[in-house]
Amino acid sequence: MGMIIIKTPEQIEGIRKSSKLAAKTLQYLEQFVVAGNTTAFINQKAEEFMRSHGAIPATLNYKGYPAASCISVNDEVCHGVPNQYVLKDGDIVNVDVTTILNGYYGDTCKMYSVGQVSPEAQRLMDVTLECLNLGIAECKPGNFVGNIGWVIGNYARKMGYGVVYQFCGHGVGVKFHEDPEVAHDADRNSGPKMKPGMTFTIEPMINEGKARVKVDKSDKWTVRTIDGKLSAQYEHTILITESGCEILTSLD
Ligand code: MF3
Ligand code: CO
Ligand code: CO
Repeated sequence: MGMIIIKTPEQIEGIRKSSKLAAKTLQYLEQFVVAGNTTAFINQKAEEFMRSHGAIPATLNYKGYPAASCISVNDEVCHGVPNQYVLKDGDIVNVDVTTILNGYYGDTCKMYSVGQVSPEAQRLMDVTLECLNLGIAECKPGNFVGNIGWVIGNYARKMGYGVVYQFCGHGVGVKFHEDPEVAHDADRNSGPKMKPGMTFTIEPMINEGKARVKVDKSDKWTVRTIDGKLSAQYEHTILITESGCEILTSLD
């Protein structure tokens, strides 16, 4: 069992600023996630935005990862390495960015639609966002971290989807990946209890088909569904407060 860092007010303010910048990066990228653009180009725009606002992209050189963002298209689940793939009408795209601003980390991802997407793809994205929101509704002092995964797992399965279990949410803020591990499929009342001052991500990856995933053998990073079906993901960085929680990577 690891150590969960309870952040000081000063650290919280730093993580809040970094998180807002990460959220603004995703908002800025909206205009570039269109048919005809490569994922490498979108990554370049993400890096420019973060750096021009005084931040460093946390993923760049993280354990050897080669880019400033992760861009995962269609059957790609997460950790998609930006490349020369040209986006086309109907693609669903996840962009995941993590900023380091004044030493503090903010981590968020969302889905983008390229042109008109299928009703099946839209439903998958809608349910995945709902999964994140159900997880956030569990965030309050005294509740178990496992209840986040309990509500997400049950809802996603009820909707007929597979819940990725090989990757989890995580503590974040003074490091990229801290304790606790936040599973998206977990037993009720399992794991540590939430306390004010904890900051962690919730980042469910939900599959149209089977839950199993595999890592690309050539780029060693891009994670795909085992059955080639679609996958979606949304992620927020959350602060546990005295009365509940604050979504640090939200812009509203
Ligand atoms: N941002 C991802 C997360 O949500 C982690 C990406 S690590 C990388 O935890 F090395 F793949 F970039
Ligand atoms: Co994360
Ligand atoms: Co992330």
